[in-house]
Amino acid sequence: MSETNPLIFAQITDIHIGHYFNPQEAASNLRWALREIGQIEPQPACILATADLVSGGTEAELEEYARLAADSPVPIYALPANHDLWGEQDTGAWERLVGPLRCSVDLPGLRVVLVDDVSRRRDQPVHNNEGWGAWLSPEKMAWVDEQLSTAPAAKLVAQHVPILPIADSFHNAWADSNASEVLDLYRRHNIAALITGHWHRNNEWKVAGVRIINTGALCGWQYDGIPPHHCFPTRPGYRLFAYDNEALRTFWRDGSYWTSPPSFPDPQVTLEWIGPVHTGGPRPQVQPVEVYANCTLVAKAFSVETEIAEVAWSAVRGQWQRATLAYQGLWSEWKVELDMDRLRGMGEQTLWVRATRADGQIAYDAFMLAVELPHRRFHALRQNTFHGGKRPLN
Ligand SMILES: [Fe+2]
Ligand SMILES: [Fe+2]
Repeated sequence: MSETNPLIFAQITDIHIGHYFNPQEAASNLRWALREIGQIEPQPACILATADLVSGGTEAELEEYARLAADSPVPIYALPANHDLWGEQDTGAWERLVGPLRCSVDLPGLRVVLVDDVSRRRDQPVHNNEGWGAWLSPEKMAWVDEQLSTAPAAKLVAQHVPILPIADSFHNAWADSNASEVLDLYRRHNIAALITGHWHRNNEWKVAGVRIINTGALCGWQYDGIPPHHCFPTRPGYRLFAYDNEALRTFWRDGSYWTSPPSFPDPQVTLEWIGPVHTGGPRPQVQPVEVYANCTLVAKAFSVETEIAEVAWSAVRGQWQRATLAYQGLWSEWKVELDMDRLRGMGEQTLWVRATRADGQIAYDAFMLAVELPHRRFHALRQNTFHGGKRPLN
């Protein structure tokens, strides 16, 4: 391992094989990710699977996951969470079909500790998912401490749920738990990062001195709790890591760029950081609207009590032009005639819309515009179909 030849490994998470989201899509996404990871050069040393591999936690679902995972040319090390365990009386099916509940993996220059942070908390307040929550029992704390203490090199921890402070507690499954002690343990061992899933979104934070890298769902869905579907489609993907003793670098490989079989025909770009702020995602894919002729732009604005005084648009920095009010009801609608004589030669532009309220408050929206660009190649958004799913899933 060196700066020019770093350790490469991958992470998949929240695959949700099973009947809750979209069974066919979950399985095909896993197949795609494993095939593509297997074709990356240099080949990743391993894949870390950070739980919610299945949805109902039944033996049949775990069997399906194991059958699909068996095709991976790269070794997979997995940890379970509630969705992987709550369908059976005990953890026997997981241990027989997937592996141990927690383990350490020594990669060149890096020990990865995978710990099952989600379990039934019968002795704790029930706050979500019928008593399941994130916590590390004294026994698990001692085991993690031992694994980190005896690591021959740098250390990384993988678990399911990120540990994020909110108000005077911690977010979601770590609320009313021993999150502070766990963070303290990780900080004392100076781990390179804590990598997690569960949120079905990408993000990165520094919490109490611990770098937490969260990875979006391979299933391509995010639970939002809103009927009738209780979730909405997101772009699936997996994460790559490169570690070179100096730095742990990471990249979200977006599933909307996939091909089957994997051939990497298209480039991917992701705007990930703006200063210290991670831009999140997976986001809707940016597909510029191509403009070849005069057309009408319609913007809609909404404000309660204080009226919208003006809506303006701009494709050139600092040059705002007023839109015309076309409808005033519960919301207002504003129109602009886009004139090709003014747009011609602009190429790719960000089209801005700005609404100014009578009290000076401002709202913005923006979209990509491509004016008369030859030979542009656009990705088609995958057609997601929904087959059900009403259980809380994260
Ligand atoms: Fe989860
Ligand atoms: Fe999940």
